[in-house]
Amino acid sequence: MILLRVRRQRTGAEKFACILPGAGMKRRQAGKLFPVNNTGPWAEELPQSAEKIYLEERVKILTKYIVQGGTPLCGEVEISGAKNAAVAIIPAALLVDGVCRIENIPQISDVTLCLSILEQLGAGVRTIDRHTVEVDCRRIRSTRTPYDMARRIRASTYFIGALLGRFGQAEVALPGGCNFGGVRPIDQHVKGFTALGSTVAVEGGFIRATAPRDGLKGASIYLDVVSVGATMNIMLASVMARGNTTIENAAKEPHIVDLANFLNSMGANIRGAGTDTIKIRGVEQLRGGNYAIIPDQIEAGTYMAAVAAAGGQVLVKNIIPKHMDCITAKLQECGVEVEEHEDTLLVRRNGPLHKANIKTLPYPGFPTDMQPQLTTVLCLAQGISLVTESVWGNRYRYVDELRRMGASIQVDDKTAVVEGVDHFSGAPIQAPDLRAGAALVIAALAARGRSEISCVHYIERGYENLVEKLRALGANIRAVEEPDEREELGLG
Ligand code: EPU
Repeated sequence: MILLRVRRQRTGAEKFACILPGAGMKRRQAGKLFPVNNTGPWAEELPQSAEKIYLEERVKILTKYIVQGGTPLCGEVEISGAKNAAVAIIPAALLVDGVCRIENIPQISDVTLCLSILEQLGAGVRTIDRHTVEVDCRRIRSTRTPYDMARRIRASTYFIGALLGRFGQAEVALPGGCNFGGVRPIDQHVKGFTALGSTVAVEGGFIRATAPRDGLKGASIYLDVVSVGATMNIMLASVMARGNTTIENAAKEPHIVDLANFLNSMGANIRGAGTDTIKIRGVEQLRGGNYAIIPDQIEAGTYMAAVAAAGGQVLVKNIIPKHMDCITAKLQECGVEVEEHEDTLLVRRNGPLHKANIKTLPYPGFPTDMQPQLTTVLCLAQGISLVTESVWGNRYRYVDELRRMGASIQVDDKTAVVEGVDHFSGAPIQAPDLRAGAALVIAALAARGRSEISCVHYIERGYENLVEKLRALGANIRAVEEPDEREELGLG
């Protein structure tokens, strides 16, 4: 960790900032600044004397994407490891009393942050190559995650389950992540931890979970809502609890199965992942091993949607076709040709797009994380399409941006009525969150003219080398960096 005292040249204001360390870090992130709250939990980690801090004059650099639209996409794209599996499996390494080697890790900022949190807790993290790390959690020295790191991502909640499961206590900042227009509740996580015997309290911005003296005890837990996060967290907390745990009404997403497979490969006893009843028999200890993360269903779906909107023909490589079924079926309904092979999909769109209705649902239904990208495709389809978002309260914050590009969409609560238009026109637009940002990139690729997309740090939370991958498909997109002119040094 390199700490910097940063002085804004214009205002003279000083702040502390850090450069996040190496594992999984993108070249373009090296040297960028991430704010550190000097009075927060990290303060004790500052060197005793301020002189020891490197004094540098820097300002934060913002990245924008410049897209000249209208070029069909052609070629091949390799899909990276699944973000939502990686951000659970990395904290899960805390449960392992040995070295675990994790392969197919995507190089995205959420993953970098998870690895940095692990290092801060005392884990050894060794980067083997661009997509492989070895994690050694035998000498963890703290069960409290750094406040400013953990609060920035939703997945930091997984540190609660993992720390509680292994050490009987956890203190983790209330999580951040994409804002879908309201509070993202964690009541089902808390219900699970409590059923296992833990006490859970919120104090000073932290969630504090503590197991009883004799440890957590297996329990039967029925989730009131199908929750990916709660299912994963209860699995993490219960894997070494005494006795048996059953999670009913569990989420069935591919990343749930991947987490269970990771834990089982380290010695856990979890059955039923991928169905709505998961049974966990507590084990004494997890030992080290090797594991490769599954390909990212949503990244693959995003490239498929990009081909649908911009036209062309792309071979999407390194995927599990079964995971793509719900997305493939909807794109075919829209008139996109999809040919399925063993671990690739050939996606082609030459003719006009047809209208379709979408309702987001937990897996195997149509994923909410593909809703903005598919809505963008439907903006260019003939006729009127209906989109119903039934997982998140409000996931239409990108609609205003699409309207700037010429889209015709009316949103009423959870439903968007999309009337197809002939084309998008390039415009300056702003990514409101990760998947919405990806949707705006898709719109810009299909648009006539030039678009400038700002706040792309949201997109880079979840898409590895998006610009490079799209350029390899012939897209006219580039990332430009410019100093942040805003007063506050922050992440936006
Ligand atoms: N919910 C509750 N109580 C809880 C937990 C969830 O009421 O304790 C509700 C939520 O408000 C929501 C629904 O249950 O309405 C589903 O939430 P879930 O817990 O499944 O979502 P999550 O675990 O917070 C993960 C992904 C999201 C993805 C959702 C749904 C990660 C890190 N995040 O979030 O991914 O949208 O599942 O599939 O795995 C993304 O990748 O862009 C992203 C936002």
